[in-house]
Amino acid sequence: MNTMKIEDIKKQFEKQFKNINREEDLKNLKIEFFGKKGLVNCLMEKIRELSNEEKKQFGADVNILKVFISEKIEEAEKGFKLVELNKKLQTESIDISIPVRETNIGTIHPITKVRRELEEIFYSMGFVMAEGPEIEDDWHNFTALNTPPHHPARQMQDTFYMPDAEDGKKIVLRTQTSSVQIREMENNKPPFKFITMGKTYRVEMDATHTPMFHQIEGVYIDKNVNMANLKSCLMEFCKRFFEVEQAPLRFRPSFFPFVEPGLEIDVQCKKGKGILKLGEGEDWMEILGAGMVHPNVIKNVGLDPNEYQGFAFGTGIERLAMLKYGVSDARMLYEGDIRFLKHYGFKFFK
Ligand code: PHE
Repeated sequence: MNTMKIEDIKKQFEKQFKNINREEDLKNLKIEFFGKKGLVNCLMEKIRELSNEEKKQFGADVNILKVFISEKIEEAEKGFKLVELNKKLQTESIDISIPVRETNIGTIHPITKVRRELEEIFYSMGFVMAEGPEIEDDWHNFTALNTPPHHPARQMQDTFYMPDAEDGKKIVLRTQTSSVQIREMENNKPPFKFITMGKTYRVEMDATHTPMFHQIEGVYIDKNVNMANLKSCLMEFCKRFFEVEQAPLRFRPSFFPFVEPGLEIDVQCKKGKGILKLGEGEDWMEILGAGMVHPNVIKNVGLDPNEYQGFAFGTGIERLAMLKYGVSDARMLYEGDIRFLKHYGFKFFK
């Protein structure tokens, strides 16, 4: 009789289950069978009236029924959930054609841009980067560079002096990145082929000078590096940096204490009303200082000038940036004016 009852309940469930088409009805059905007073529970209560022998079989049968019903209900619940989800996906689809609100992203500063360009060009020619401190001692900034105390060439650069070091050493804000050349050569073995780039400081301020500015310098020293190498290196640099087919250069004798001969280098250019074209024309524009490294400098870093020789060159990164990107006043580079940065800044490095 008990097994009949189980069969009946199963049949009843199947009949009702077939007709369910709303989630609400499924919930009610679940309560009807699994609720506290539900049909399955009522069955379980019957167990008490049975003999031990019957209990075993009955329990197992009720369990089979329970699993059967709960699996069906679970499956149907999943079905309803899926229908609901699909409905949601259809009605709540996102319209990706709406234009995004413009975000205020910064720009790449012309100096940063030019530094990247310079790195790329000189790295491709086999130079590596050397770095050094901005607060420098007198030896590295001047004396080792063949500019001993009281040398008139010191007056060429208006220097910011810091308080003396404890051991009495004179300390300056480096006036040129040439100081890094000395450190690099003191601490390494030749051949040397490196560039230095970074902040330098001089007491000056006008349309083309700011008290803090950036220099790039390059050095190439080996047993037989000569001026022809210097020329081809700088011609290649100018062509690539200014993005011109050819960059005729003029070498003018000049004086820097750490080179002999010393040169100022001009690039051919055409100046018109408000326009400047490089690589052609009748005018010349100074862009670099350079020369063959002075034998005293080679000696000062512990090498034999009869064995080693090479060239050095240097210039201001501000000047290169102003020429290439048409910035007329160096001071604008550091005023942090958003309008300047929007106009002269770059979105990308390339
Ligand atoms: N350091 C020099 C300056 O600041 C530039 C330079 C570098 C000149 C290398 C010649 C050779 O004026």
